[in-house]
Amino acid sequence: MTDNPFMTMKNIDKSFNGVPVLKNVSLKVEKGEIHALLGENGAGKSTLMNILGGVHLPDNGSVYIDGEQVKMLNPRISQEQGISFIHQELNVVADLKVYENMFLGSEIRNKVGFLKVEEMCRETHDVMATLGVDIDPKEYVRNLDTSYKQLIEIAKALLRKSRLIIMDEPTTSLAEHEVNRLFELMRSLKQSGVSIIYISHKLKEIKTVCDSYTVLRDGELVGTGSMERENPETITKLMVGKAISQERYVHENPFGPVIMEVKNLTSEGLFNDINFTLQQGEILGFTGLAGDGRTELFESLFGYRKKYSGEVRINGELVKIDHPRKALKAGIGFVPKNRKENAIIKDLSVIHNMSLSSMGNFESSGFLRDNLEKERFQYYKDALNIKVHNPQITIDKLSGGNQQKVVIAKWLEANTDILIFDNPTQGIDVGAKQEIYQEIVTLSEQGKAVIVLSSEAPEIIKICHSINVMYQGEITARFDGKSANEEEIMQYATGSKREAKKIG
Ligand SMILES: Nc1ncnc2c1ncn2[C@@H]1O[C@H](COP(=O)(O)OP(=O)(O)OP(=O)(O)O)[C@@H](O)[C@H]1O
Ligand SMILES: [Mg+2]
Repeated sequence: MTDNPFMTMKNIDKSFNGVPVLKNVSLKVEKGEIHALLGENGAGKSTLMNILGGVHLPDNGSVYIDGEQVKMLNPRISQEQGISFIHQELNVVADLKVYENMFLGSEIRNKVGFLKVEEMCRETHDVMATLGVDIDPKEYVRNLDTSYKQLIEIAKALLRKSRLIIMDEPTTSLAEHEVNRLFELMRSLKQSGVSIIYISHKLKEIKTVCDSYTVLRDGELVGTGSMERENPETITKLMVGKAISQERYVHENPFGPVIMEVKNLTSEGLFNDINFTLQQGEILGFTGLAGDGRTELFESLFGYRKKYSGEVRINGELVKIDHPRKALKAGIGFVPKNRKENAIIKDLSVIHNMSLSSMGNFESSGFLRDNLEKERFQYYKDALNIKVHNPQITIDKLSGGNQQKVVIAKWLEANTDILIFDNPTQGIDVGAKQEIYQEIVTLSEQGKAVIVLSSEAPEIIKICHSINVMYQGEITARFDGKSANEEEIMQYATGSKREAKKIG
């Protein structure tokens, strides 16, 4: 390392409402390096970056760019220093077109002030092409899939010709090939002298692209160094203060009767001829790559999508679920994949976000039983280790991972007989993942039927009794959780192998 880093943060302190969130934190980023910023949910990563990005002011401490102290009083000053910020909770505007989002606040105009639309579209197209993305710059963002929204945020940073790019969990909704593209691009940015601060809970990714790391725990700096010399276990230990078990969580518990039966479920272009049964006490996994149709399949079973054919039976009775309300009535709960869009109400308090799907539990003769609600919240706060000092604050004040824990608590509290989790550990740190796995296993031991969707095969293997692999809308293999291994699952997930006989 040289002695003239591109960016230095020194002795940063920050409190919110008297609660310290960062304590004397320092961070040094060299020119042309990819620096991982690591730590548990709520450790202070996004807050530290918000200070660098001029979103929050520090209570103490200073920031230096190229050796000169800079007061990051607002986001514009930070941008002028060549710093771009790809936020964890995506900030694209759904009602604007792609190119309008790209140039929001820095529109290209001609001399008399008219917008140069074609030029902005051309530039948008060119940057998108470097990311390997082919979308119409004039398309409305609301019509696009979440992964494109993330790509737009990334493209925006590229367009600005930044010197330092902050990426706060940039890959949460990207497909594998998009992640690989991003990594290629990060490497070439690095070659051209751009620095990157990379926040992620996926240790594999960090090991692949990062040169150095800094770990925060409870708002304090606990370690920093070069990536090469560390193995992932050491870093995990620094983050969570303990080693993480690689064992399977799920035990063989006796199953009850069949609770859900799905026959020949088909939705043109999304999934085809899906058959499975689910028993009480069973945890059934679905995995595959992006585009395998599993999310669409379960969005249909929960009534978010209506156009499908086939039979669904709950407790032996034929049901037609074409609205989430009907799904709930049939005893199905669903933890969806896109937290910000589908699962939280951001202006509502943390505690009410928890009770949203189960208001009935907290009512008696029309009155809300506050104490019971508080008691239940305390239970989940302990069980899932939710970091929040005051549950009355709005949920958007919580760190990303802690918001996800509240969403999970909401559905655990709704206490449905069948619970579907789509990508439940998105943005959750390695330590807290274990607590969520434990809750899922406990549900099954209580006789609930659980379905888990995840693209991470190791996660599915850890918590499922049996595993369905999907490829292009079809189930291509079924494994017993005990004997499943990651390589074999990948062969079916990528379509390089498929079972000869029909699954079902
Ligand atoms: N605007 C705010 N008001 C009050 N508290 C806040 C605010 N922003 C962040 N916090 C608190 O600061 C702490 C650190 O949050 P931060 O978002 O920095 O965590 P993080 O390390 O990014 O976690 P994650 O991995 O879950 O994203 C949390 O306890 C959070 O609730
Ligand atoms: Mg964060």
